[in-house]
Amino acid sequence: MPPKAIVTLAALATLALAACGPAKKTGVTQEMTKQPFGKTPEGEQVELYTLTNSKGMEVSVMTYGGIIVSLKTPDRAGRLADVVLGFDNLDGYLKGHPYFGAIIGRYGNRIAKGRFTLDGVTYKLARNNGENHLHGGIKGFDKVVWKAREAGPQSLELSYLSKDGEEGYPGNLSVTVTYTLTEAGELKIDYQATTDKPTVLNLTNHSYFNLAGQGEGDVLGHQVMIMADRFTPVDAGLIPTGELRAVDGTPFDFRMPRAIGERINAADEQLKLGKGYDHNFVLSGAAGTLRQAARVVEPKSGRVMEVFTTEPAMQLYTGNFLDGTITGKGGKVYQHRYGFCMETQHYPDSPNQAAFPSVVLRPGGRYQTTTVYKFSASHS
Ligand code: GLA
Repeated sequence: MPPKAIVTLAALATLALAACGPAKKTGVTQEMTKQPFGKTPEGEQVELYTLTNSKGMEVSVMTYGGIIVSLKTPDRAGRLADVVLGFDNLDGYLKGHPYFGAIIGRYGNRIAKGRFTLDGVTYKLARNNGENHLHGGIKGFDKVVWKAREAGPQSLELSYLSKDGEEGYPGNLSVTVTYTLTEAGELKIDYQATTDKPTVLNLTNHSYFNLAGQGEGDVLGHQVMIMADRFTPVDAGLIPTGELRAVDGTPFDFRMPRAIGERINAADEQLKLGKGYDHNFVLSGAAGTLRQAARVVEPKSGRVMEVFTTEPAMQLYTGNFLDGTITGKGGKVYQHRYGFCMETQHYPDSPNQAAFPSVVLRPGGRYQTTTVYKFSASHS
């Protein structure tokens, strides 16, 4: 790894304080640091930014893929642990991985048969998941280098221009994703985009969480609540059938807290198709307004994660494809179901399903969504 040339961006704030006379202790250390994190095979420099709040919470994001590399939050005794899966260095990510921590685009989740028709024109996309298109294609937003700008003391703005035709999608798409860490333990992600041609998009983040700490066992004991009365059942290729099915009486009813593992092996056709949970939940409340989507408690550590979003839906994925072949941070081996994802999103395959909320963005319009992952500790 290159030498640790840490640039303290809080230095500016400190200077400003110093200019106003003797430094006063405010008790708030809000700083962002930046360090080189290696180079892509094409020679592009990758930086790692670290955001910190005064409670000791720390989030590191790199410019390659906008990936959340680590996220440290306290347990009920104040002990910090890194609660996301990933690698210690860029090489780990470059070798290929199942989207750990990454920004996903242009289209998070699947588009059936890698094609859709918009305004009478049919667009062809890569079929990188059986016969379907997944997570933006061969080189999605998880594999490009984003341009970084400090938008505030704890706010990192990443931008990327996706060219007309990239991965088969129409329109020059200008995308901005802003990560903000707040004093209230929230990691806020704001997604924005504009286009010069009609197009489709569905941006999300693919962090794998384990609130006991990354690599510390499977997530089956996590207690999950999801504010959804319905979900979208899928076919064998994990494409929604079009039905919005009530969760009542199914293993998909998380309206009261239930352990992830409680029903995951139930004799349920949908669980069999997903090899566990890999499904899109239709969130209650009005899409477009920031409302609670989920609450997760890890009983041993007491760590709590709440998810809030403006998106209409959320994919719960329980790391069903993790199989012990990946060694991650600190030499931890990621076994089956060692992490879960809560990918806030529009429904999968929306470009082909007219009855689903629209994912079309047109010139003059602005794509704007927000998702908040809020961390705390439960003392009960
Ligand atoms: C998403 C998909 C899963 C899987 C993972 C990555 O969550 O829904 O089926 O492809 O990404 O392994």
